[in-house]
Amino acid sequence: MTRSTFFFICFLTLAALHGIHAVEYLVINNATTTRGGIRFTNELGADYTKDRMAAASEFIWRILQQNTPEERINRPQVIFFVDQESQYIAYVINNEVHFHDDYIENIKGDIKWDFNGVLFHEMSHIWQNGVGKAPGGVIEGIADYVRLKANYIPAHWVKAGGGDRWDQGYDVTARFLDYCNGLRNGFVAELNKKMKDAYNDSYFVDLLGKNVNQLWTDYKAKFPN
Ligand SMILES: *[C@@H]1O[C@H](CO)[C@@H](O)[C@H](O)[C@H]1NC(C)=O
Ligand SMILES: *[C@@H]1O[C@H](CO)[C@@H](O)[C@H](O)[C@H]1NC(C)=O
Repeated sequence: MTRSTFFFICFLTLAALHGIHAVEYLVINNATTTRGGIRFTNELGADYTKDRMAAASEFIWRILQQNTPEERINRPQVIFFVDQESQYIAYVINNEVHFHDDYIENIKGDIKWDFNGVLFHEMSHIWQNGVGKAPGGVIEGIADYVRLKANYIPAHWVKAGGGDRWDQGYDVTARFLDYCNGLRNGFVAELNKKMKDAYNDSYFVDLLGKNVNQLWTDYKAKFPN
């Protein structure tokens, strides 16, 4: 064993021991006394939430083909908050995922299933490219595409072919992106990679050979509602 090999192996061992690239997940309940905050503690809890954040990350890295830490946004820590005041059900800012306690209070049906759907969507914002730069419809569409692939599809979603515009966002764009991904396996991952520095509709032409409006027309024709 050469000297440099020896040091390399030491380095690898240290890296493994300290989990150099591991992401730390934290949970802060800032609504411990409200009905939603209490429900969070009793029916979900910090440990469960951290596990699901890690599972969501692994899933998103696979869908977006971010196979190594170098291909991911550098986020040593992701922090989940339960908030008392918010105008949104949930949102992401930088490395923070915020859930409104009112949302948790009012979940009907299976609380974990509903919570995971929103969590996988929000965690996508943690790892996807172009947040705050690319059009909102594209960003929300990719986040809901992840939710679709994770099979947390709420009853109120449009079916395939639904919606008026490809960039309407959320379920409408997610279904359209799923169609595009069917034309080229890995399309959504490649689109996301291209969005690292800027967004341009021409990425659809680059990857699929057709402009996005033509693709939307093809898609609507394939799924007449
Ligand atoms: C907790 O909630 C209070 C009241 O809504 C707010 O002022 C405070 O900034 C919050 N703390 C965190 C860490 O979000
Ligand atoms: C988008 O891409 C097209 C085709 O490559 C190019 O002509 C156009 O300038 C780009 N738009 C922006 C805003 O970069």
